[in-house]
Formats: sequence, C-alpha cells, structure tokens
Amino acid sequence: MTHAKIKKVVFPVGGLGTRFLPATKSMPKEMLPVVNKPLIHYAFEEARAAGAQEFIFVTGRNKHAIEDHFDHVYELQSHLSTKNKRLELEMTSDWLPPPGNISFIRQQEPLGLGHAVWCARHAVGNEPFAVILADDMVLSKTPCLKQMVEAYDEVGGNVLGVMDIPREKTGSYGIVDIDADAKPRNRRLIKAKGLVEKPSPEKAPSTLSIIGRYILQPEVFHILDRQKPGAGGEIQLTDAITKMIGEKPVHGYRFEGVRYDCGGLVGFVAANVAYALEREDIHDRMVSELREVFKRGRVKE
Ligand code: UTP
Repeated sequence: MTHAKIKKVVFPVGGLGTRFLPATKSMPKEMLPVVNKPLIHYAFEEARAAGAQEFIFVTGRNKHAIEDHFDHVYELQSHLSTKNKRLELEMTSDWLPPPGNISFIRQQEPLGLGHAVWCARHAVGNEPFAVILADDMVLSKTPCLKQMVEAYDEVGGNVLGVMDIPREKTGSYGIVDIDADAKPRNRRLIKAKGLVEKPSPEKAPSTLSIIGRYILQPEVFHILDRQKPGAGGEIQLTDAITKMIGEKPVHGYRFEGVRYDCGGLVGFVAANVAYALEREDIHDRMVSELREVFKRGRVKE
C-alpha cells in the first residue's frame, strides 16, 4: 500500500524560551545559532532533505527575526554580489524556498505545543504532515526526518521520533507505552499502545521518550479541536496523539543519530561543540581550544 506523501512541515516556534533569558528577551530562541546557523535553519534544512515543499511556521510575539531570516535582504545581497562574495551569498539567500512555499501563522497565546500545531490546521488541510521542534537537534548521517519518512512509507499512520533515556529523566518527556505483541518488520519501529506525558520514573511504562519529530495524520486536528489543557495547564500534543491510538496506528521510530536537547542550556552548548567538531575547517582548532579550556579549569572559584 502506498501512503500519502509528506509535503508539509509545521515548525511550532511560538514558545517563550524562558530558559534562555535574557538572550530571548528580544530574540526568538529558534534564532540562537549553533556554530553559524540558527536552530530554525537546521530544522528547515532537515525538512527539505526529507522531501518537504511547504514550510509552515507557527509563531508568536517577538518572532519577526524568524520571518526576516526566510526572506531576501537586498542591501546585504547587493553588497556581497558587488564584492563577488559567492560563498557568503550562497549562505544568505540561495537556499530560500520559492515565494508561496513558506507561511507564518500567529499563535496569539502560547497555550502549548498541541495548540500551536492546531493553529496550522487550515494551512495543512486534510493530509499527513510532519512537525519539527527546532530546539531538538539530531546529528546523524541521514537527517532524522528523512529516516522517519522512509519508515512512514512502510507503515503509514503516525510516526514519532523516539529514543531511550535514563529512567530518572522520564518526568521531563513524553513516554511511549510499547505494544510488545506487535512486531514491525523494521527493527527501528515499535508500535505504541499508549503515550504518557512526563510520568514519574516509577510510573513510566518504558524509558522510550518522544523527541521533537512527528509525522501525523490530519485526524489529530479534530481531536485538538476539543482538547482540554493537560499537564502543566498546556494543550498537549501527546494527549491528542494518544487519542488516535486504535483509530490510526502510532509507531515510534528509533532514529539513528545523536539528539541534543537545545531547549536547555547544557544541551545547547553541547550541540555547539559537537557541530563545530563536525566541521573540517575548524575541527582541529576547536580540539586544541577545548583542551586548553579543560586544562585551565575554572577561572572564578
Ligand atoms: P518548550 O516546552 O521548549 O517551551 O516548547 P518554550 O516556551 O519554547 O521554552 P521554555 O520552556 O520557556 O524555555 C517546545 C516547543 O514547542 C513550541 C516551542 O517554540 C518549542 O519549539 N511551543 C510551545 C509553541 O510553539 N507554542 C507553545 O504554546 C508552546
């Protein structure tokens, strides 16, 4: 059976990013750079690598910099082209999607991830779509969403990016209740019989946590239409996906790659180091700088 292609990707970027204050006082969290690219730029590249053609951003107040990032900047482009700075020009604008393939929707109140996704219902329409949370980065050989789209082509339904975490951390994530009787042919897939948002380690049905990559069926919007706030007073996407179980299959996909939780300070700084080390041009200098930093130890006791 062939499954409808994933053409649209939703990027919920309406959060307040309070863990990065004061940086996020006037700048969106998604514009924080990892090496030289903003988080949202990596997310966009991943969507494109997975075959997406339409990019839907759900934004909030204070997010103009994201819109500007996905637009031409004529003064700079003309300056760079006069100076014949080809590489810089490439980085500035060559990657822009054609006009009309990118849209911005305003989430007037940050009522949670489920609410942010629901705000994209008219733009997505009646077709399966993907969601990428830019603050979850996955460093991998094959981009994470591309891996997931390939798995989705096999099983259809909903596919969630999942990874094993230490049991003591279950309280920070959505956790999968695994259907042990289902044995998908693809060994990276597991079938879910339930999902639990932020369970305590004693109550967690597994240690498999959902990360910020989702392939969802449009039925999720009908559920979100009626969704009441859940954990933390927010409208939770996990709760809505849970309600689809039984109607539409929900699989978890254990992606290949390393995930960096860039929603928090430590994960974000670690991602900067890891992505810098991936770059041929700065790898060696980074290694020697890092060695120096560790050798020196802390300056202020
Ligand atoms: P987070 O839980 O990381 O929230 O949201 P946050 O507000 O961005 O950051 P903190 O906790 O205050 O530091 C996870 C993802 O969901 C989006 C965020 O932009 C982020 O990508 N989100 C969250 C929305 O788009 N709208 C919301 O109402 C909440």
